[in-house]
Amino acid sequence: MTAAAFDRQSLHSMIDLRTFKGRFESLYGQSPRVFSAPGRVNLIGEHTDYNDGFVLPIAVEQRTFVAAAPRPDTRVIVRSLTLGQTVEFELYQPGPTRRGSWLDYVEGTGCALLERAFPLSGANLLIDSEVPAGAGLSASAALEVAVGYALAALGGTPNPDRLQLALAGQSAEHAYVGTRCGIMDQYISALALRDHALQIDCRSLAYEAIPLRLGTACVLICDTQVKHELAFSAYNERRQQCEDGVREIARQYPAVRALRDVSVAELEGLAPRLPELIARRCRHVINENARTMAAARALKAGKLGHLGRLMSASHASLRDDYEVSCIELDEAVAAIEGEPGVYGSRMTGGGFGGCTVSVLEREVVPRAMRAISERLRSRFQIEPRFFTTNAAAGVAEE
Ligand code: GLA
Repeated sequence: MTAAAFDRQSLHSMIDLRTFKGRFESLYGQSPRVFSAPGRVNLIGEHTDYNDGFVLPIAVEQRTFVAAAPRPDTRVIVRSLTLGQTVEFELYQPGPTRRGSWLDYVEGTGCALLERAFPLSGANLLIDSEVPAGAGLSASAALEVAVGYALAALGGTPNPDRLQLALAGQSAEHAYVGTRCGIMDQYISALALRDHALQIDCRSLAYEAIPLRLGTACVLICDTQVKHELAFSAYNERRQQCEDGVREIARQYPAVRALRDVSVAELEGLAPRLPELIARRCRHVINENARTMAAARALKAGKLGHLGRLMSASHASLRDDYEVSCIELDEAVAAIEGEPGVYGSRMTGGGFGGCTVSVLEREVVPRAMRAISERLRSRFQIEPRFFTTNAAAGVAEE
């Protein structure tokens, strides 16, 4: 299959808006407004966001759509076409948290918006998504941000503040879902710019938009379809280990508030005094911050070879120092690493399964897909899925 044919094929999963609106009308008997927010893939800067560091994600072309119309009361009724389920909640009588269902994301976002003083009213919602769930492309952030925008817009805020939407989504994760995630996923889903990667400073919450000019190269995402159980607990555990590291380091350097404040050179002096495991966790984060800033400069200068080498170093560090990769991700990366036309490849997102992201020449995409598929099929009987993507725009009304 040529790369061009592959691109056309990947467009087939796109949701048809007319049909989607029609389904809303027959379900609720109202004519809806439609909102959508994208999933994301992170080029580099992994597990740095909750350390006040830097990340470099793009929004992918797959989006989550929310059709919405107001209700006369304060109930929110939500039907998911992807899951074939309906849930509902009362805006002003929040239910229990951590139910382990997708209601946590939706109700959590509603509650977080109310806490941020957005006026809200009841709503009928219908959801459909092109973002594969559980693949590490932030389907949950896309859901939170799209629902947040829909509820805020219906409640009378015509152009809701994108950063507040991102923060509300993150609050939903912390308070309702129970993941102590950073801000990257919700931020890029809310604020992404078409054809740009955002270098986000996760401390100041400012970004620099960097044109995604790849010339004859492209971004290839490989969904290994693997999800290891560990992901949820290990994520919170890593965050805790970083906090432990900061506490140790601050004894000597009281100005250090987060690993963001420690330079690569400083860590070298500090590492022998830290417990070995904590030192490795800190080393990943501190080096990854430096790599992310270097990668943003390389992207700006069109130096894809350099960008790719930083991506490969990021993978090795996530595998060896941070220990959030898994054998399937390692093999997907190894299957194409160093091949002609491949600049770099790495796991992306939280880890323990999900996707790899690679930057490579368009003409080698079919060969790369074949190499990864053969490797994963023969070693693990896995059929991976692939997407190429441009950098898409953030949340919007259709
Ligand atoms: C998940 C979290 C993000 C970020 C990444 C790792 O996607 O939601 O906040 O920490 O993992 O970089």
